[in-house]
Amino acid sequence: MKDQHQPSKANLVLDKEFTIARVDDRLFGSFVEQLGRSVYGGIYDPGNPRSDQHGFRLDVMQMVKNLRIPVIRYPGGNFVSGFNWEDAIGPRETRPTRLDLAWATTETNEFGLHEFCQWANLVGSQVMYAVNLGTRGPEEARNVVEYANHPGGTWWSDLRKTNGATDPFGIKLWCLGNEMDGPWQIGQKTAYEYGRAANESAKVMKWVDPSIEVVACGSSAYDMPTFGAWELEMLEQCYDNVDYVSLHRYYQNKTHDTPNFLAKSLDMEAFIQTVVALCDAIGGKKHSRKKLNLSFDEWNVWFHSNERDQEIQASNRWGKSLPLLEDVYTFEDALLVGSMLITLLKHADRVKIACLAQLVNVIAPIMTSPSGCWAQTIYWPFLHASLYGRGTSLRAVVNAPLYDCTDFSGVPELDAAAVLGDDGSLTVFAVNRSQNHDLQVSVDLRAFEPMKFDQHILLCNHDINEVNSETAPDRVKPIVRAGCQIDNGKFTVTTPALSWNVFRLSPMPVKSPEKR
Ligand code: AHR
Repeated sequence: MKDQHQPSKANLVLDKEFTIARVDDRLFGSFVEQLGRSVYGGIYDPGNPRSDQHGFRLDVMQMVKNLRIPVIRYPGGNFVSGFNWEDAIGPRETRPTRLDLAWATTETNEFGLHEFCQWANLVGSQVMYAVNLGTRGPEEARNVVEYANHPGGTWWSDLRKTNGATDPFGIKLWCLGNEMDGPWQIGQKTAYEYGRAANESAKVMKWVDPSIEVVACGSSAYDMPTFGAWELEMLEQCYDNVDYVSLHRYYQNKTHDTPNFLAKSLDMEAFIQTVVALCDAIGGKKHSRKKLNLSFDEWNVWFHSNERDQEIQASNRWGKSLPLLEDVYTFEDALLVGSMLITLLKHADRVKIACLAQLVNVIAPIMTSPSGCWAQTIYWPFLHASLYGRGTSLRAVVNAPLYDCTDFSGVPELDAAAVLGDDGSLTVFAVNRSQNHDLQVSVDLRAFEPMKFDQHILLCNHDINEVNSETAPDRVKPIVRAGCQIDNGKFTVTTPALSWNVFRLSPMPVKSPEKR
């Protein structure tokens, strides 16, 4: 075993002609579910001195804005499969309080479609709205599209105006239910039942507003017994009327097996490749010229809070705004989240939408208390990818030492992706997965114009279990180093053992000819 002072070597070749695809900005989306303290006590906290006149937490809004999130999925999640969207519109005093069977809590409906659209607008995000295909169907789905997007002159669109929104919300992206093959889902369906419901809903939703795009539910997880057969059967029913297929994936490290945990992005990669193959198989069978793309609309690490949630739910059934799914993320989790972002960038040709699940308090990068908010460890790789990962995804050819672990063999110690910005900047995202040694990475920029290496952003040198908290919010926080010299398109940079790295490069200014 090498120690950290004896670095190993890796090579990284980048060429601006090695393009994968343009990165869809929506790859850096997130998710707010009516669950736990995501909305109540999270983004919405009326009466708190940190909130504005609408009850929106200003400190939280600022942190969300900093992430530049293009699209936010709402209102669920499991919640949506028992939700009547009409319950959460109109005067607050007339909105019914209901049992939420998905999370065994009580929903007051104080916060709904109008409030979310207003909040999303303030933080600069588009809304990705999920309709209930658990207990409901095409009728309610087309009504909510009409309510949200039709300009006026009909019962639903005029009701929206009466409720205070003169202009349509203009929601362009819609989810056709959530995880409909899961036995935990209210109104679970067979692939055929769901495929038919999705098809008929998509059809009439698009008749109301042809400009919208819709996401069909793929199987709720890669390891579900239904996976694969579900995609084939449901797409058989709805291929022509849908635009994307959803993928959901959460990873755990209950066995404290770091090498295996950090390799889980390889599972994510196989999952994406398999869903692409399933979509294309149905497209081929249907002799369709249309290609379906993927919406990875739930992804993250989720396991730290599992036991506590069981206790909370057992002792406080039907409670309100309970602290559910409040995973406290470690440094190790941030490394895997970094690799998951790298995986999404590597598959930008077919993954057009992705939502980090979720955004505030519930398995979230941002945590709140009544007196403030702070960034969890996973906030940092997500921020860097969202800020610097826009442009064209380039294939980063990595040659690094490999390792074997419990579930995977031949895992590269260096995981990397690169993005060419529209301004000619180049960003490399890299995770050193090795626990044992630094990696000296030789980068070959080949056919690039002369570049300068501006910054090396690093998350490193932490105990894998290090976390941030309200009283110690900066324990895990990136540092910024100056970049090194580039000679003849080549440079060498050290990525420390267990680290998240962002190399930021920009084109050398072209020297103007000297005046005589
Ligand atoms: O994000 C938490 C939950 O995970 C969502 O409600 C559900 O869709 C998934 O199982």
